[in-house]
Parts: sequence; C-alpha cells; structure tokens
Amino acid sequence: MRLEGKVAIVTGAASGIGKATVDLFRKEGATVVGADLKGADVECDAGSEAAVKALIDEVADKHGGLDIMFANAGISGGLASMFEQTEDDWTEILRVNTIGPAMAIKHAAPHMQKRGGGSIIATASVAGLRSGAGGAAYTASKAAVINLVKIGAQQLTGSNIRVNAICPGLIETGMTEFVYERARAKGIEDKLGHLNPMKRGGEPIEIANAALFLASDEASYVNGHALVVDGGLSSSHPFNLQAYGRTAI
Ligand SMILES: NC(=O)c1ccc[n+]([C@@H]2O[C@H](COP(=O)([O-])OP(=O)(O)OC[C@H]3O[C@@H](n4cnc5c(N)ncnc54)[C@H](O)[C@@H]3O)[C@@H](O)[C@H]2O)c1
Repeated sequence: MRLEGKVAIVTGAASGIGKATVDLFRKEGATVVGADLKGADVECDAGSEAAVKALIDEVADKHGGLDIMFANAGISGGLASMFEQTEDDWTEILRVNTIGPAMAIKHAAPHMQKRGGGSIIATASVAGLRSGAGGAAYTASKAAVINLVKIGAQQLTGSNIRVNAICPGLIETGMTEFVYERARAKGIEDKLGHLNPMKRGGEPIEIANAALFLASDEASYVNGHALVVDGGLSSSHPFNLQAYGRTAI
C-alpha cells in the first residue's frame, strides 16, 4: 500500500498507460479519479485549461485535497513529417501534449500546497529526447514536456511539490496499436522494439510502475527529472554488434 490515503488524478485513463496506472494506484491504496474524453470515471479534455481546472477543483473538493496529478493524456498525430503537418496539426498536438500538462501543474499545485506537498507527473516520451520516435509536432511537444517539469519544479521551490516526467519507449497501447497490428500481420512482431538492449517493446504496467515510484514517498528527493523507461533504447547510438564481429552474451 504505497499510496495509502492519497488522492490522485490520472488523465488519459481510458486506455494504455493511463488505464494501467489507475489500476495500479488503486491497488496501492489511493483514491483515484481517471479522466479521459470518454470511457473513464469522468470526462475531461486534458488540453483545455477550463476543463483541467474544473476537474482538479472538483476532485479536491470531493476528496478533501489532491496529492498526485498524473498528466498522461496524449495524442501522436501519426508519423507525418514536418513537411506534411499543418498549423492546425501542430496546434492540436501541442495543446493536448504540452499545454495540457502545463495547466495540470498550474492548477494542481495550489491544492497540493494546502496539503504541504504532492507529486505531479507528466508523460513525455523518448521522442522528446531526440528524433526518430514520432512525428515532428509530437516530438517537439514531448521535448517541451521534459522542459516543463524542470521549470515546474523550479517555480515550486520550497513547496515540497515534486514535478517529474516519464519518457516511455515503445509501449503497446491504443496509440501504437497500428504499429503492432501491422507488424503482426507481416509476421515481424519480433522486430518491434528490437533496437533496444531488451529487444522488445514495453507493457503499460512497466510505465505505471515508474509512475507509482514517482507518485510515492519513495521518490521524495526526485524532482525536476525525466525518467526514461525505454529498455535502454536511448542509452546508445545505433550499434550493430554483428558488424563489429561481436555477439551478445
Ligand atoms: N505508447 C507508446 O509507445 C508511448 C511512448 C511514449 C509516450 N507515450 C505517451 O503516453 C501517454 C499515454 O498514451 P498511451 O500510449 O497510453 O496511448 P493511448 O492512446 O492508449 O491512451 C491515451 C489516452 O489519452 C486520451 N486522450 C487523448 N486526447 C485527450 C484529451 N484531449 N483529453 C483527455 N484524454 C485524451 C485518449 O482518449 C486515450 O484514452 C501519451 O502522452 C503518449 O504520448 C506513449
């Protein structure tokens, strides 16, 4: 029961990483409200300041406060290059992926301050570290999230509110369903995630476990950090063992 007595909000809760995190946080004793456009406990557009503020205020009022905010909702916008994406594409992707978490920090922090602290977590991505893991706007939006948690942590100095991000690698969820389906149809599922040292894609629970750590008091000194959970994908330049006459152990 690592979250006993805590009140948490998770956005993007109807699917994938958000859904797995809601289940895990509940198992660990938290009161959790899952929010999504549809299919979760409450409906909320995580990219709208008014909707995010209303969600946070309502949950804090109903449950006597707020301890954990997981701003996880996101959209990929597909794999279109920057020469194909329109201004509208950019605006919507940045609205949901970047402005959404910024508004979550802005409106969750005052409630957490009343509790004497809290944990805010945003889902970034390895796409935010370097190119090659998503479309142009998505990549930029996730790089911004990594920066956002640093400025959030800094601007909440002295509040005991920690602000961190998680950078997942490839995870099988609604967002990546088309990739997995195509690979399965072609019989090349083993190629998914094979570029990372673990040689596989990840599961939503593996990101939920990272969120649990950051949400819990075990991460009491982890702040302004982007925790990479990608099987080691981003730890190395592309490296072909066989080309160097080497084999893995
Ligand atoms: N799956 C991956 O490989 C991967 C890798 C890195 C980062 N991520 C990030 O993980 C987060 C969760 O995505 P997922 O992989 O679980 O995908 P998912 O599609 O399974 O879940 C995302 C959820 O967010 C919801 N959502 C989208 N726009 C919303 C909005 N405006 N308001 C409220 N909810 C909204 C969707 O309805 C969906 O239920 C996203 O931020 C995504 O960018 C995913």
